[in-house]
Amino acid sequence: MNIYWTAELATGMELIDQQHRELFARIDRLVGACMAGKGREETGPMLEFMENYMEEHFAAEERLMADSDYPRAEFHVQEHALFRERLEVFKRELADKGSEADLLTAVNQSIVDWLFDHVCIEDRDLGAHLRAQQR
Ligand SMILES: [Fe+2]
Repeated sequence: MNIYWTAELATGMELIDQQHRELFARIDRLVGACMAGKGREETGPMLEFMENYMEEHFAAEERLMADSDYPRAEFHVQEHALFRERLEVFKRELADKGSEADLLTAVNQSIVDWLFDHVCIEDRDLGAHLRAQQR
């Protein structure tokens, strides 16, 4: 299983797409490490990266929303907050995730699923809104 960014996930906004590509590449590395039985070593640094990078990324998106009077901003910002909570829960429960297979399932459920859904629906909608304003 590989996690990678594809053109279908494009928002059409270079900054956002570039950050998404980086995120997907990092998560792919984590999933790869879990599958190779090295998820435990990779998870700590990965989570640290995610937390910092996500904050930067969410802030960039939220700035674009505020500057463009994006009508779904409130909902979108709430989704970002939910992801932060998910990450917190994931971190807290990390110690209980016994095997590498359990860890992989948890990564998929907590991080990968959210990211695909969010990028596919909310971020692409934001991208369409921003592109319409640039015309
Ligand atoms: Fe977003």
